[in-house]
Amino acid sequence: MSIATTIDTALDRSIVLGYGRIGLLARRRLPGWPADPPRIDGQAVLVTGAASGLGLATACGFARLGATVHALARDPRRAEQAAAEIRASVPGADALAQACDLSSLAAVKSFADEFAAREPRLDVLVNNAGVMPAERTRTVDGHELMFATHVLAPLALSTLLAGLLGRVINVMHPGWADTEGVRRSMPTFRTITGPIIRTAQEGADTIVWLGAAPEALRETGLFWHDRRPRPTHYRLGPSPGASERGRDELWAYCEAALAAAGIGPL
Ligand SMILES: NC(=O)c1ccc[n+]([C@@H]2O[C@H](COP(=O)([O-])OP(=O)(O)OC[C@H]3O[C@@H](n4cnc5c(N)ncnc54)[C@H](OP(=O)(O)O)[C@@H]3O)[C@@H](O)[C@H]2O)c1
Repeated sequence: MSIATTIDTALDRSIVLGYGRIGLLARRRLPGWPADPPRIDGQAVLVTGAASGLGLATACGFARLGATVHALARDPRRAEQAAAEIRASVPGADALAQACDLSSLAAVKSFADEFAAREPRLDVLVNNAGVMPAERTRTVDGHELMFATHVLAPLALSTLLAGLLGRVINVMHPGWADTEGVRRSMPTFRTITGPIIRTAQEGADTIVWLGAAPEALRETGLFWHDRRPRPTHYRLGPSPGASERGRDELWAYCEAALAAAGIGPL
């Protein structure tokens, strides 16, 4: 193992150093740090949750690379604001507002069907929208809100837009990034991590890289952080997430939930 790999792995295993901005700053200086992505003029990217935080930073990142950016927010006014902010940050950006409440599968289906009928191409879908409600909340479909937003909506969008799509990026771990969501839902965590928390742009770095870099196409289905695939579990004991039966049950549940909304097969 090279010294660079040893340092990179140590940052990852320490969690605090790796997920904070020190990890990104250090990794960028290590030999073998993957090159910045090329321009992707003419490509189209759809970013969900683009009105704030990582979504807005991601949308700006793709706009800087020359892509047409579809900025999706919960309601039309916030979507228009997001598109205007992208154009203000990136002069000449081609940013288009898209509105959809992703917590409703009927709304996701209607948005995706209209988008697919209207738009000639979609090269990258970034499933970024997320919530962390203080109390258990149910969606109009009866699903738990966080599960509906982070799991069912990405699955539904990816399925419904599959005919158009190139890459799909599900935002997993971007590192600890200073966003409205973190400030609102985790104020104590935000205070504790203040000295080391990443900016939203730093958190968006790997999302944009995954959407544009040719090397990212070599492998699929992995958990990425700071431009490298990372382990999803550390070997400290049995992990309930790794159970094959659990995975099958979750997949069957998602399939049934989407089928009930007229979406699928997956
Ligand atoms: N920041 C971090 O440190 C961190 C760490 C790990 C993972 N993440 C993940 O990164 C993603 C972005 O988080 P963030 O920190 O940037 O949070 P954020 O600032 O709260 O951004 C999330 C965005 O998602 C939108 N959204 C939520 N529910 C929606 C719905 N039903 N329909 C349409 N849009 C919806 C929100 O819009 P509204 O304002 O209208 O609700 C908001 O614009 C999330 O998936 C989060 O889990 C973040």
